[in-house]
Amino acid sequence: MPHPFDELNLEEVKGSHSVKWSLFPEDVLPLWVADMDYPVAEPILEAVRERLSRRIGYPQGAGDPELLEAIIAKQERLGLKGLQPENLWLTSSVVPGICASVLALSSPGDEAITQVPVYHPFLIALKEFNRVTRANPMQPGETRWEIDFEQLESLVTPGTRMLMLCNPQNPTGRVFTRAELERLAEFALRHRLWVMVDELWSDLIYEGPHVPFASLSEEVAQRTVTLTGPCKAFNTAGLGGGVAISHNKEILARMQKVSLGIGGHPNVLSMAAWLGALRHGQPWLEQTLAYLKANRDFLTRFLAERLPEVRYTPPEATYLAWLDFRALGLEDPHAFALEHAKVGLNDGAIFGEGFKGYLRLNFATSRPLLQEALERLASALKGSVVDS
Ligand SMILES: Cc1ncc(COP(=O)(O)O)c(C=O)c1O
Repeated sequence: MPHPFDELNLEEVKGSHSVKWSLFPEDVLPLWVADMDYPVAEPILEAVRERLSRRIGYPQGAGDPELLEAIIAKQERLGLKGLQPENLWLTSSVVPGICASVLALSSPGDEAITQVPVYHPFLIALKEFNRVTRANPMQPGETRWEIDFEQLESLVTPGTRMLMLCNPQNPTGRVFTRAELERLAEFALRHRLWVMVDELWSDLIYEGPHVPFASLSEEVAQRTVTLTGPCKAFNTAGLGGGVAISHNKEILARMQKVSLGIGGHPNVLSMAAWLGALRHGQPWLEQTLAYLKANRDFLTRFLAERLPEVRYTPPEATYLAWLDFRALGLEDPHAFALEHAKVGLNDGAIFGEGFKGYLRLNFATSRPLLQEALERLASALKGSVVDS
């Protein structure tokens, strides 16, 4: 029996006015920005409808207490314990938390270390706020991307203030193991670094478990701010909503101060959607995760059989595939995919220096659309080999 996601109503998807489906011309299949093409989960629709049926006054400043409790309960289940509502600061989405952490935990000219490739707003925030990015390129292993711990040590200078970590990592799909996180934590403590960890993808894991960085020890928790939100697991990016979590309230106070007057107040619809998702969204999430995993496995088989020149290790989390096109000798794989295959992907170069020739593919679409995009890529590449 076909899965309902196999039969997405394309007109509906296209009519959603999303950036994903508006950026490229009509004949391009867009598999780029991190949105899913699936319909909104019923518990979220219900929660938002219910909220709209009531008055919409200003929300309580710290946010809806029931949502704060639900986030705390969720973090407890993940292993991050001992949180009180005052250890949470609701942000309008996750990116403002990334920016506020950079502003709050470092000064202009200071250095921040991050593993690359990484979600590009990390790099944009550092650059635009005149901080220095000390990039630690991940190394491709046989089955997964690895942290280069030796190089990590060599990156520290007296000006290094922060470690910025994305776990699970966009775009490699790595879920860092407890052992890896413990090494990073020991490193951060030894050099007295603040740690910003973006754990937004922690619900979309195929091979885990997810270990919250701040759960490693009380000492680590005191130097860490964790960012997360509902938008990846529940595909609610346009609604916004995020949270900065820290056992160290001083970190949150500093982040609030640098955002004074520009952070806005919590949005009642986004809080309602998030609470609906936390309370009743688990079955939808599990079904969606199973479909995504099958898409990942389909992609893995397709690449192995039809595009073996494309280097790739299956992501342990996220719905993003990090594809190395360098062996194909194309001058600009991103432009090639767009022009010759009519497939819109993310250019790897934005995720860190040294990743030109890589593409990021979002497989959170229907299986038939994913297959169509891969067929288009395979036949365009075949054509390019014959032509040359
Ligand atoms: C690691 C990571 N953090 C943050 C975001 C964006 O979060 P938000 O839309 O809540 O600002 C994304 C979006 O893809 C992401 O991958």
